[in-house]
Amino acid sequence: MAREGKALVTRPPTFDFADQAVLVTGAGAGIGFGIAQAFFDAGARVALGDVRAEPLKRAADRLGGGKRVFAQTMDVREEPSVTGFVEAAERALGPIGVAVANAGIYPNSPVLEMDVAEWDRVMETNVRGVFLTCRAAARRMVANGTPGKIVTISSGAAMSGRPGAAHYCASKAAVVMFTRVLAMELARHRINVNSVAPGYVKVDSETSPVTEEYETTLLKGVPWGRAGTPLDIAQAVLFLASPLAEYMTGEVVAVNGGTSAGRTHLPLSTPRGR
Ligand SMILES: NC(=O)c1ccc[n+]([C@@H]2O[C@H](COP(=O)([O-])OP(=O)(O)OC[C@H]3O[C@@H](n4cnc5c(N)ncnc54)[C@H](O)[C@@H]3O)[C@@H](O)[C@H]2O)c1
Repeated sequence: MAREGKALVTRPPTFDFADQAVLVTGAGAGIGFGIAQAFFDAGARVALGDVRAEPLKRAADRLGGGKRVFAQTMDVREEPSVTGFVEAAERALGPIGVAVANAGIYPNSPVLEMDVAEWDRVMETNVRGVFLTCRAAARRMVANGTPGKIVTISSGAAMSGRPGAAHYCASKAAVVMFTRVLAMELARHRINVNSVAPGYVKVDSETSPVTEEYETTLLKGVPWGRAGTPLDIAQAVLFLASPLAEYMTGEVVAVNGGTSAGRTHLPLSTPRGR
């Protein structure tokens, strides 16, 4: 039954994004690729951005590399790179209707051992990168006079800390608050801004590899009994980018198999019935 651990990976697309141009950062691998693929499968034209050229090329190839796919290496930490990517994406695919600020890194170090360079790298990628991506996309949407949807990828780490991830948790909490404020500012332009907060998603990240011990321990806290998949996250992003989410903005949607519901690994606190 429910805990047998199978993900619903063969589900057909529920949403229709034909006529929509969708931009995704960090789309060369992991969750970002899953999001780009789900939009592509739902008919969208997709712009893939990633700092690593090889995975980005592979990702574009996996989507067939046709006219509905645009890929450009870019670094979310660099303003000209982000602006250049958004402008090139519009030239290739038409006005951007949906932007997903997904690129992020999650190295671990206890604070006492953390060097400044690592702190800065996390903040620059996860916070500055989200700011630059959302600002560039929102500026184009406002200039085009079209409504739009912006989705940031935060994390359960924005609400629940864990040792070794002070910079990461702080960066994702910043993404949540940035999302809320941007939603207020862009509401009058009819641009929805929401965040999806994934729980643990198995992705075989090359940039931030996760240890087996961490995965096994963490899964004990997931009532659904399995890790999330990029498609699980993508489905929530597609919903938020769809007309069904018209009246949702400034919201954070947790997609984590029940992880944030409570402490699922605890036994009964008293003998049964007493
Ligand atoms: N995997 C998880 O369990 C999990 C859980 C919660 C939140 N998240 C978040 O989801 C997002 C994607 O994570 P993932 O697990 O798919 O990671 P990943 O490492 O598999 O993929 C991230 C992609 O982003 C790219 N990237 C990194 N720095 C970049 C930069 N400066 N500019 C452009 N691209 C850059 C990488 O090259 C990589 O292709 C991140 O924001 C992460 O914090 C992941």
